[in-house]
This record gives sequence, C-alpha cells and structure tokens, in this order.
Amino acid sequence: MNIKEMKHMKKIGVFCSGGDAPGMNAAVRAVVRRGIARGLKIVAIYRGYNGIFNEDFKELTPRSVGNIIQEGGTIIKTARSKEFYTDDGVIKAAQILEKHCFDGLCAIGGDGTFRGLMKLQKHWKGQLIGIPGTIDNDIGGTDFTIGYDTAIDTAISALDRIRDTADSHERVFLVEVMGRKAGFIALEVGIGVGAEEILIPENLPINLKTVAASIHKAKQSGKKALIIIVAEGVDNRDIFSFAKELSKYLDFKTYISILGHVQRGGAPSARDRWLGTRLGAFAIDCILNDESGIMVGEKCNKLVKVPLEETQNKKSIDKYAYSLIRDLSI
Ligand code: F6P
Repeated sequence: MNIKEMKHMKKIGVFCSGGDAPGMNAAVRAVVRRGIARGLKIVAIYRGYNGIFNEDFKELTPRSVGNIIQEGGTIIKTARSKEFYTDDGVIKAAQILEKHCFDGLCAIGGDGTFRGLMKLQKHWKGQLIGIPGTIDNDIGGTDFTIGYDTAIDTAISALDRIRDTADSHERVFLVEVMGRKAGFIALEVGIGVGAEEILIPENLPINLKTVAASIHKAKQSGKKALIIIVAEGVDNRDIFSFAKELSKYLDFKTYISILGHVQRGGAPSARDRWLGTRLGAFAIDCILNDESGIMVGEKCNKLVKVPLEETQNKKSIDKYAYSLIRDLSI
C-alpha cells in the first residue's frame, strides 16, 4: 500500500449492542481480519452505543482477535444505551463519530441496535452495516441470527436434565425460555425435547383451561411427567401467574424452572461460528462496496443484504412444526 492509499484508508468502527449472543466474537474476528486484510482500519467501540458517548475506542489488530472464535459472549462488551434512545443522543453520537473521523460502522445486535442505526443515518453520512446477533432469532430479512443455534442447544441440554428429574419424580414442569416477544426459541426447544405443550406469543390467546385438559388427557394415557415450555414474552403474564392460574384446574402441584441467562452463554456452536464468520466478512465486503443502510443476513443458505427497515418486520414461526406438538406428544 502506498502513502496515497494509506491516506484514504477507511476507519470502521465495530461494536456489539443489546443482549450478547454466542458467535458475536466470530463476527468481530471476521470484521477485523477481513477488514485489515482488505486495507481498512478497524476500531472497537466498547459497550455498544455507550462506547461512542464515552469515546471508548481501540484500534484492533489481527492479534487482538486471536483465540476468540470459540469464546461465548463478546470481547468488546455490549450494552443497551439509554442516551442513544433520545434525538439529542443520536446527534451527539454523530458529532463524536465525525470528530474521530470514522467512515463507517459495523453493528452487531438485534432489532433495537438496527433501529439505532436507522436513526443515526439521518444525522451521519458514514456507512452503516448491521449484523444480526441475538439469541431470539426475531430479526426480519434473515433466516437465522448469530447465537440462536447455540442458545437452542443450551436450552435443550438443560431441558433434558429437567426431563430426567421430572420423570423420576413424576412431576409436571413449566419451563420458561428466553426470546423476548418471539417464540422461536420456545418452539424449536419444545420440539427438540418432546414437550407436551408450548406456549408462544404467536399463538394467542393462551387458554389455560385447555392446557389443563390436555395435561389431564396425557396423564390418563399413562404419562406421569410432562414438560410445558413457556416463552418469556408469551403475553403480559409471567410464568408464576401461569402456574397459579393452571393450579385452579389441576389437583397436583406444578414445578417452575426459568432457564434465564444460561441460554446466552457458552461456546458458540459450529453453526454460529460459521454464520458469525460469514456475516462479519460480508459486512466488510459491503463497506468496501460503499454500501450503507443495510443488514447482512442469510436466506436459504445464501448471504443477503436487506434494508435496515426490513429488519423490523415480524418473522413468522413454523406453523407446521407448531401444529405437530399435540400429535407428537400423545
Ligand atoms: O434479546 C436477548 C434476550 O436474552 C431476550 O431473550 C431477553 O428477553 C432479554 O435479552 C434479556 O435481556 P437482559 O439480560 O439484558 O435483561
């Protein structure tokens, strides 16, 4: 690279925002190495949008991202920024990015992160590329998000353990899984563990009398232990209210287990390393093509670019899989 080219070296910020997800490190690594290999300067912005306000920047080298592809979480940290929700905050962020001569950003996160990019593009002329990273898989325009596959595996292995104890004690368990307002994790985990019922926000209203009736039916058929998966955002009730209401129709106790943040941790699966790597590298390719205002994603195994607005579209669950639950748990 000659001196003239060096002068035009683009400076690209990379950050993670929202809930962490396994595979984010693979994406960071790919952004950094593909970027540097193609003549870009890659700068980490620590703790999401907060890192812009705090001017918490550090240039990364290929060595900074060594040995991280197998690590859960994100080495550049993540956060949800209250300041960035305000118009003044966005304007301030744009000024800081300008002051530090950034040419573009690669933002790894979920729908909130992309709403942030959409606001930012009104006030800043730099390139903005989103990379979908959330265990919830609730992002329009991509079949999968980084972290979803690992979270499913983690939840399934926890549920297998719950099944062991449920079977031994002949108990009925209500198990809450994450997913915010979407039932992707609940459905896939429920199918994977042979759950007797799966309660998801995509299938409302929830009728607990019907759920109780199907529990009775299962018991009559000889089943002694049952697992009911409850998506955390199923409706405005929490799992304790569900259990309380359900107890009106049952003459035995139900047990509650909330899997919680265990679902977000752990080493990324092969699939999430693959997805994180391809999307991270592809984001850089989009920067090199002077593109902006898009998210990179994967559709039918192919890399795609979608306008940021499309990321906010609601994705539908697999209705066929959902329709199988009752038949498969007879
Ligand atoms: O978006 C990922 C997610 O884990 C959701 O499934 C969950 O609703 C939320 O984040 C929890 O967020 P936090 O851990 O920041 O409270």
